[in-house]
Amino acid sequence: MTPAAIAIVLAGGSGERLGERTPKAFVALGGRPLLVHAALAALACPAIGSIVVAAPEGLEDLAHAMLEGVGAHAVVTGGATRQGSVRAALEVVPPEAEAIVCHDAARPFARPELFTAVLSALQDADGAVPVLPVPDTVKRVRGGIVLGTESREELALAQTPQAFSASALREAHRRAVEAGVDLTDDAAVLEWAGFRVRAIPGDPANFKITTPDDLARAELHAGDLARG
Ligand code: CTP
Ligand code: MG
Repeated sequence: MTPAAIAIVLAGGSGERLGERTPKAFVALGGRPLLVHAALAALACPAIGSIVVAAPEGLEDLAHAMLEGVGAHAVVTGGATRQGSVRAALEVVPPEAEAIVCHDAARPFARPELFTAVLSALQDADGAVPVLPVPDTVKRVRGGIVLGTESREELALAQTPQAFSASALREAHRRAVEAGVDLTDDAAVLEWAGFRVRAIPGDPANFKITTPDDLARAELHAGDLARG
């Protein structure tokens, strides 16, 4: 049994590295904003009843208009950092939600099954994160000089959606803000606070759009999906 869950869709960033005129979550892919792709995937997970979107300041109404008809949602003004955006969203997550899934609007290819998988992994952990193995040899480099080669065995690349017990996520964020700690990954906030986070297999197709090259790759991938 997966717990009753709500998803926070993080769309509050500016998309500086993508370099488009609109913030990244509002950039279209296959005729739909990235935010809508992410929202549809979250809402297609049977355990997720509604979403809370963190939007950039001034674009809250646009986000709301885009999600009209997509499903149950609330929109909040994002924070200056990703962690701040999660905190803002947590304020409007209903207290009865047992589990919270945090997902990047910048990942349009997450499958609803991945949302279900991270939620299922909460049975024996406070958090669950999809990860991929590191394919390349990893070097530690300082000032252009290779200091050494790291073992890849215990390294992994983290994705979203990430699922959390609502109480653990709230407590970890409360403690982080008290300590002045600001991290760009939600599971990292729980790890920092000493909670148990499980890693489950990620999906190579669920890549994050960060640069113009990623967007070009996403257009190709979306075209492949549309053609079946
Ligand atoms: N995000 C957010 N609030 C912030 C910063 C980021 O909700 N203050 C969200 C982004 O909208 C994105 C996700 O977190 O969906 C992952 O962050 P990233 O890929 O870094 O997106 P941006 O911060 O928008 O991009 P950049 O760092 O290039 O400016
Ligand atoms: Mg960023």
